[in-house]
Amino acid sequence: MDIETIKAQIDSEIQNINSTQNLEEFRLKYLGRKGILAQLTSQIPLLPQEERALFGQQVNALKNRILSLVSEKQKSITGGPIHRKADIYDISMPGIAQELGRLHPITQVIDEICTIFNRMGFSIVEGPDIETEFNNFTGLNIPLEHPSRDAFDTFYLKGKDKLLLRSHTSPVQIRVMKSRKPPLAIVVPGRVYRPDATDASHSFMFHQIEGFMVSENIRFSDLKGVLELVARAVFGKDIKMRFRPHFFPFTEPSAEVDISCIICKGKGCSVCGRKGWLEILGSGMIHPNVFKHVGYDPKKYTGFAFGMGIERIAMLKFGIDDIRLFFENDLRFLKQF
Ligand code: DAH
Repeated sequence: MDIETIKAQIDSEIQNINSTQNLEEFRLKYLGRKGILAQLTSQIPLLPQEERALFGQQVNALKNRILSLVSEKQKSITGGPIHRKADIYDISMPGIAQELGRLHPITQVIDEICTIFNRMGFSIVEGPDIETEFNNFTGLNIPLEHPSRDAFDTFYLKGKDKLLLRSHTSPVQIRVMKSRKPPLAIVVPGRVYRPDATDASHSFMFHQIEGFMVSENIRFSDLKGVLELVARAVFGKDIKMRFRPHFFPFTEPSAEVDISCIICKGKGCSVCGRKGWLEILGSGMIHPNVFKHVGYDPKKYTGFAFGMGIERIAMLKFGIDDIRLFFENDLRFLKQF
């Protein structure tokens, strides 16, 4: 058999091999001690002198060819771990960079404000989004027929126990005071729900941070001191603050708190409605009826409470003019923070 015929035979035989055992048989047939190549090699001395070198080279080339065919076949049959990966993935392709995630701007503001309170000794507590009617209303001195329920009226769940999606974080005051004794200094971040039509400044779901401090001899001036410190830490040292008398059923007296407009610095602009002031929270001294509902003696204890809307604060802080941007999950928006 001449070299060319053997070569053609090898090429066709290797095609049909698909087991390690067949491959080994194939290898021995050609490269074994008594294999075809050994036979060819043994013929070399019998050849005329001038043909030996060329023949030797051809046999050698044939041997290399068989070795590489066998090794390739071996890979494709057993596929070592590295080689299998190379089959599935193109390891010469550039990799896909893993992008680092980030906190949502609302979460960032919640974290920032809670950290400030935490440093002043407040503990952070969370309550459930689904509340009882008692905690959301009655316990907070908002009786069934009270007109201020309207503004807070909310989504009720089906069932006889009248569960609802809380319309503010204030019910966590009731939960905490029922399960702990004063002194208390607590902040409560969380989601709240209102049946409001969505527009640039309203959302049916938003976030609040509630805060309250209860002990003997807590005064309105303590509330002022704490809130002033927080406002400076969040909006800067030059911020001015004012307390405006207001009504909340769960505090008496009650006040709304404004800060000087951070856009126009109090001169009057479109963000503050030419007033120079921006309302940022509601607050007051906890109503004695609330203490009665949780079993605290209103003669012994006093306390302040406040509640702020986080989206509004985040919008002022970052200069965002539409609340809906927070909830659309548009990465072009979220990546800016
Ligand atoms: N719960 C009120 C609201 O959602 C905010 C508030 C006002 C909370 C006064 C308080 C408070 O704790 O004392 O509008």
